[in-house]
Amino acid sequence: MELITRAPKGTVDLVPGTSEKWQLVEEVFRSEAELNGFAEIRTPVFEHTELFLRGVGDTTDVVEKQMYTFEDKGGRSITLRPEGTAGAVRAMLENGLYNAGYPVKLYYNTSCYRYEKPQAGRLRELHQFGVEMFGAAEPVADVQVIALALSAFKRLGLEDVGLQLNSIGCPECRKEYHKALKEYFTAHKEELCDTCLSRLERNPMRILDCKSPECQAVAKGAPKITDYLCEDCRAHFQKVQDYLTAMGVEFEVDPGLVRGLDYYTRTVFEFPSKSLGFALGGGGRYDGLVEEIGGKPTPGLGFGLGLDRIMMALEAQQVEFPQLPKCEMYIATMGEEAQKKAFLLLDELHRCGIPADTDLCGRGLKAQMKYAGKIGAKFTMVLGDNELQEGKAEMKNMKTGEKRKIAISGEDFINDYVTVSTEAEDFSQDGIFF
Ligand code: HAM
Repeated sequence: MELITRAPKGTVDLVPGTSEKWQLVEEVFRSEAELNGFAEIRTPVFEHTELFLRGVGDTTDVVEKQMYTFEDKGGRSITLRPEGTAGAVRAMLENGLYNAGYPVKLYYNTSCYRYEKPQAGRLRELHQFGVEMFGAAEPVADVQVIALALSAFKRLGLEDVGLQLNSIGCPECRKEYHKALKEYFTAHKEELCDTCLSRLERNPMRILDCKSPECQAVAKGAPKITDYLCEDCRAHFQKVQDYLTAMGVEFEVDPGLVRGLDYYTRTVFEFPSKSLGFALGGGGRYDGLVEEIGGKPTPGLGFGLGLDRIMMALEAQQVEFPQLPKCEMYIATMGEEAQKKAFLLLDELHRCGIPADTDLCGRGLKAQMKYAGKIGAKFTMVLGDNELQEGKAEMKNMKTGEKRKIAISGEDFINDYVTVSTEAEDFSQDGIFF
């Protein structure tokens, strides 16, 4: 029994009271992305497993340990997306989005699935807001992507978000670096975990990202990629930093930052929350990924922000959310005729985008008014035989108690409603975000 009354480990329900907050936060990211010319893409929640093996990399923790992979009834290997980038690249290619000209700018707001040990800030169903840009090789593209995330954080009132930057170079400068890493880690072989021992041959950079404390201790003394960057990668990284500095953005270069996914080249970055102690998001360039997935060589870059973690950070910082009215007008009714009339009036209000409701539970008048108070209705109106006969009813401001008679038919109803509600408008309660 317990199984069917509890959500699976590492998942959460977003219930009313919380879901409104999510909508506000998502709206900030969505509008910030659209202000920067990004358009929404929605891709399937599952893809062919091969996409992630090729895209994310078969020596990453995500692929080696965390994917929800299963065989479907047709015998295909299917995986629930562990992240949004690989699917966005596949969809960009499959739908020929590059035909509209570069840069292609996409954003998404999706759930992702990773079989991780659930703990604070680590879920099995997580939610990401991400952007991906294709066809822009210039350092300014990196700057736009980073700045977009930072201005959304600012609009949300998140004040303790840092920016850590690094460059992990291109395949060319990584050749020498891999050699140096292999040499270093081979000398510390005994201290490495089993997974990292297998990575030593296949992809030594992954050891830098291992979560085991022993491997982390060894990784601290490892050679740094920044000492191995080729001329072009070095110049690219410098320009990114110069632009950010010119924009007044504070950042920290962290030569140990390599990110957990294989597709990155050149610039990588994370947004650590100083108070929570983990990253709210991260991203970087992946100039080889489009080709890896079957397209022509095309530069790419983007980020993924963990919405679950961002909500935690907002809560930790006690950021206040604006209270958006759930009900502007509650129409209490007495009798069937009044109820019919109420539905006509609700229809008028809804057509004008005004949230309004009426009794659906057969309550008496007193209980209806109590309910209106409970749901925070701004105005109420009582409809009975007298009101129907007169063609007018009293619109009551629930905050001040003030009552005004308004027409209850045709255009006069909406006109009167708008007049009374505009006069009562309280502009003092603008939210933090907008
Ligand atoms: P990622 O660093 O694996 O990158 O994930 C991005 C963000 O998702 C993390 O910083 C974190 O906030 C959130 N996140 C990841 N795993 C979990 C989890 N188990 N529970 C809660 N939150 C989590 C990517 O996924 C890349 N696709 C980002 C990217 C886009 N790079 C370029 N474009």
